[in-house]
Amino acid sequence: MRVLVIGSGGREHALVWKIAQSPLVEAVLAAPGSAGMRRDAQCFPSVSGENSADVLDLCHKQKVDLVVIGPEQPLVAGLADALREAGIAVFGPSASAAQLEGSKRFAKEFMVRHRIPTAQFEAFSDLAKARAYVEKLGGPCVVKADGLAAGKGVAVCDGAPQALAALEEIMGARRFGVAGDQVVIEELLVGQEVSYYAITDGERMVTLAAAQDHKRVYDGDRGENTGGMGAYSPTPALSAASEKRVIEEIVRPTIAGMAQDGNPFVGVLFVGLMIAPDGAPRVIEYNVRFGDPETQPLMVRMRGDLVPLLDGAARGKLDPAQALDWDDTSVCVVLASRGYPRSASKGDRIEGLKEAAATSAGVVIFHSGTKQDETGAFVTNGGRVLAVTACGATVGEAQKRAYAAVSCIHFDGMHYRRDIANRAMVS
Ligand code: AMP
Ligand code: GLY
Repeated sequence: MRVLVIGSGGREHALVWKIAQSPLVEAVLAAPGSAGMRRDAQCFPSVSGENSADVLDLCHKQKVDLVVIGPEQPLVAGLADALREAGIAVFGPSASAAQLEGSKRFAKEFMVRHRIPTAQFEAFSDLAKARAYVEKLGGPCVVKADGLAAGKGVAVCDGAPQALAALEEIMGARRFGVAGDQVVIEELLVGQEVSYYAITDGERMVTLAAAQDHKRVYDGDRGENTGGMGAYSPTPALSAASEKRVIEEIVRPTIAGMAQDGNPFVGVLFVGLMIAPDGAPRVIEYNVRFGDPETQPLMVRMRGDLVPLLDGAARGKLDPAQALDWDDTSVCVVLASRGYPRSASKGDRIEGLKEAAATSAGVVIFHSGTKQDETGAFVTNGGRVLAVTACGATVGEAQKRAYAAVSCIHFDGMHYRRDIANRAMVS
């Protein structure tokens, strides 16, 4: 089978790495891909997921059997629809189903309609009305840009002054452009945050595993929200009993609800959850693709072949009996460039990649934002630069291995969190 992965980040590198190990796969292709992926995939840097005609052309020329779409933007823009119309098997939802992530309002209204537990909310497209609502609430709340904002369009606010400032930034100054023309203002949930993944063909499903990421930029969950500074899997925050509730109260009703609405969801459903102290799960957000950086530890932990699941889902023939096995634990530490998440310094030379990869057998270094300069050396090329991932028999062991590898790597302006997965060890 010839498999094309769309995207260029650390998540796509991890998918390419995993897919390339499948005995069913003759070739892995990536568009645009990245220099860091070249060992596992043939890359087509001039083809981007934003241009469906180019992707279609590549599929025909390269006789692609299956397309796996990594990022949310091309899904929301309808790349999966364009490929399906041309008769190509594709892992990823239609534009219509991708609204679960592409519009927070759509997601909230869907959950209310299907009685899926989530925070109370109101949606606004008028700044004055949104301000009045925040003032009426008076206390803590969460302000969210409706559309896609690379994980940064959410402000968790202690009180009205902070929420008003967030509204000003999103709707007034339009920091996220049209994505902030509508906002959702919702109740602040408390508990432990967990990500949960299930693959579905629109009807049947195979659950994967839970992971936890670290969204704030600094240690101790301080600073701004980012796309994710690190992750680990599994997580003690999700007990077996809570996992059962997540499946029965959230995952199954979501898949069934989408099908019932005439909008079947094909691909990976990634639910961002808050697990209350009593174990009750509620949805914080839906994502319609694999998480970044959660995919990196998930792929490193996953035993067995992912490809039959991706292909089965894409063709509407997912075999629910085909559950996967998992290694004990894995931890991923993201190395970011100077200025991230507000900006990203580019072109800084990265040292120590080989030494880092050689620190222990369970270490895999995924490239999130790198490129090769004219001498062939890797340099930074984005906010999140590398995702250093390691397996272990315990979280402590995986964490130690990941940080031992990190200690070999250096680039100007490099910053990272030093407490990834600490949470898994205290609870
Ligand atoms: P989202 O992009 O919706 O996942 O939000 C980003 C982050 O904001 C989440 O990972 C949570 O940490 C936080 N967050 C979002 N909504 C809520 C909520 N209703 N209550 C508490 N925290 C939230
Ligand atoms: N790490 C969170 C996300 O991929 O949205």
